Amino acid sequence: MKKNNLFLTALFVLTAGLALLSCDKNQFTQGKILYTNFCERCHMEDGTGLRGIIPPLAGADFLETHKTELPCIIRYGIKGDIVVNGKTYQTEMPGEPKLTEFEITNIINYINTSWGNDLELARHTDVRAILKACEAARKEQ
Ligand code: HEC
Repeated sequence: MKKNNLFLTALFVLTAGLALLSCDKNQFTQGKILYTNFCERCHMEDGTGLRGIIPPLAGADFLETHKTELPCIIRYGIKGDIVVNGKTYQTEMPGEPKLTEFEITNIINYINTSWGNDLELARHTDVRAILKACEAARKEQ
């Protein structure tokens, strides 16, 4: 009986682990597809951007230093001077208002784990809270 329990526990842990793994993989797969459709034409397939005009996402210090702004940048765009890896950019980026909070989380996580980037994963609940806050701030303006 005891042995049986051990076997069941092991089986459970294994299945749960596999489920988690495949779930992660799907997330990044969706993130990659969305990146290809919505971001790649400017930031390029390898995340290097376009020198002097479009900032890079590969190895960009901005991703870490402005972590809490990324969801709103993706949804609403950004304009005005920003500094990425010591270089100033001033081209406007359009937003993608139709992307859901899940999709935005998956894009951020694809970026955070691609092209040598090894950044902390974004949590969907945090992304939702950030989007709510910047939506409210925009309404006040
Ligand atoms: C039409 C071109 C264009 C598209 C499409 C675009 N971006 Fe951008 N992106 C820019 C530009 C230009 C800037 C710099 C804006 C500025 O200078 O204020 C920027 C800035 C950024 C930044 C902050 C700076 C950095 O490099 O870390 C992030 C993050 C970002 N974009 C992510 C995305 C994501 C994710 C998508 C797809 C959902 C996307 N962009 C789609 C042009 C684009």
